[in-house]
Amino acid sequence: MPLPERPATWQVCPRCEREFSASSASSRCSDCGGLLDVRHRDPVERRAALKELWARRRSSESPLDASGVWRFRELVHPGAVTAAVTQLEGNTPLAARETVARWAGADGLLLKHEGQNPTGSFKDRGMTVGVTQARRLGASAVACASTGNTSASLASYAALAGIPALVLVPAGQVAAGKLAQALAYGARTLLVRGDFDACLRLALEASERLGVYLLNSVNPFRIEGQKTIVFEILEQLRWEPPDWIVVPAGNLGNTSAFGKALLEAERLGLIPSLPRIAAVQASGANPFARAFREGFARLIPMHADTLATAIKIGNPASFERAADAIRKTNGVVTDVSDGEILEAKAVVDASGLGCEPASAAAVAGTRKLAREGVLRPGDRVVAVLTGHILKDPGLLLSYHQEADPPPPRANRPIEVEAELSAVERALGTAAVER
Ligand code: F0G
Repeated sequence: MPLPERPATWQVCPRCEREFSASSASSRCSDCGGLLDVRHRDPVERRAALKELWARRRSSESPLDASGVWRFRELVHPGAVTAAVTQLEGNTPLAARETVARWAGADGLLLKHEGQNPTGSFKDRGMTVGVTQARRLGASAVACASTGNTSASLASYAALAGIPALVLVPAGQVAAGKLAQALAYGARTLLVRGDFDACLRLALEASERLGVYLLNSVNPFRIEGQKTIVFEILEQLRWEPPDWIVVPAGNLGNTSAFGKALLEAERLGLIPSLPRIAAVQASGANPFARAFREGFARLIPMHADTLATAIKIGNPASFERAADAIRKTNGVVTDVSDGEILEAKAVVDASGLGCEPASAAAVAGTRKLAREGVLRPGDRVVAVLTGHILKDPGLLLSYHQEADPPPPRANRPIEVEAELSAVERALGTAAVER
C-alpha cells in the first residue's frame, strides 16, 4: 500500500519525535514536554526555481506576495495563505555603514535593519504567521508575555485580525515606545509586578487554564515567520552566505529560528555552506552565554539585570533549540556589558540608522568577537538590528542629556533665549565642544 501523503505542514517534537497535526494548539509535546517544531513538505520548486519564484513575488501587487514573510511561504506556512493576516512585514534593508564597521573592527559589516518592520521590530515576521494560525484555529483570544516588542506586535496583528489580545509585561520595565504601542493598538495590557520570567510563567498558565492562544516565541509558527530574516539576508547576498550572522539573544526564539532557517536552506541546496551564528547577550542577563562556556550542559536561570530591557531575561524558554542552532552552525555565544551596548548604540544611531539598545548588543558583540580574533579579518559579517531607535526614547534622552558626567558620545541639547546672539553663542560653544 502506498504511504498516505504528508499534509503540507505538521508539527514534531524534536526530543521524542512524536508528531502532531498543524492544528494542535499547544506549543509543547503532550508526551515529553519538548517544544514543538513545524515541518513542511518539500517545495515542488527546487533551488534556482525556488529562488526565482521568491524574487518574482517581491515586485508583485498582491500584499501576500509582496510581504517579506509570505513570499517565502513554501518554508513558512504554505497552507495558510488564504487566512494570512499581513501588513507588508519584512523586506528590510541590509545596510552598510562605514563608521559602524570601523568601530566594530569588522570590515564590510552589514546591518540587517529589522526595526523597519511595521511595528518597529523583527517580531512582526513571527506574528503575522502566529496570528494567522490563531485565526485558522478559531482562537477566541491571543496572549503573550513580553519585554515590550512582542506585545506591540501582537497587539497590532490581533487588531488587524479582529481577535482580542492580552499582554503581560513587567511593570516599570518596558520601554515607553513599546508600552505606548500595546495600549494604542488596543490590547488588554497587564502590568505585572514581577520580571519577564514571571510574566511568561503567568502567560503559560493563562493559556492552559483560560484557553487563549499563546503567541510567545515558544509557539513554533512564530519561529517559521522569523526564519525569513535569514532567507532575506541570504537573498540580499545573492545566496552567497556570509561567514557570520550576529544576533542579540534573550528568550532565544530568534537564535532558534536562525538555526532552523540555515539548516533548511542548506538541506534544500539553496546555500553551499552554513554561516556561523553568534548570539550576543547582555552580561547582566547572560544565562545562555554562561551555558555555552560550560558546553551547554545545562541552563542555570538567573536574575536578569540590564538596561537593554528587551533582552532582560533570566530563564530563556527556547534554550534547548537555540543551543542546537549554535552547535549545528558551529556558532558562538558571547556577552557584552551595558556600557559596551550604550557605546555601540551611540555609534549606530550617529550613523543615521539608529536602533534600540538590545539591537546594539549585536554590534557590541561583533566588536568583542573581532577583538578576540573569533571573527577574522575579511570575514563577511551580518549583524541584525532587531528594533527601531524610537522604541526606547527614555534611555536615548537620558543618555544625551546626562550632565554628570556626560557620556562620551552624548549630543547634549542646548536651551537658548529666542535671540540670534544666543544661537551664535551656542554654535560657538558647540564648535569648541567638538
Ligand atoms: N532584540 C529585541 C529588540 C527584542 O525585542 C528581543 C526580544 C530580542 C532582541 C531577543 O530575541 O527573545 O528571540 O532571543 N524580545 C521579546 C519581547 C522577549 O517580548 O519582545 P529572542
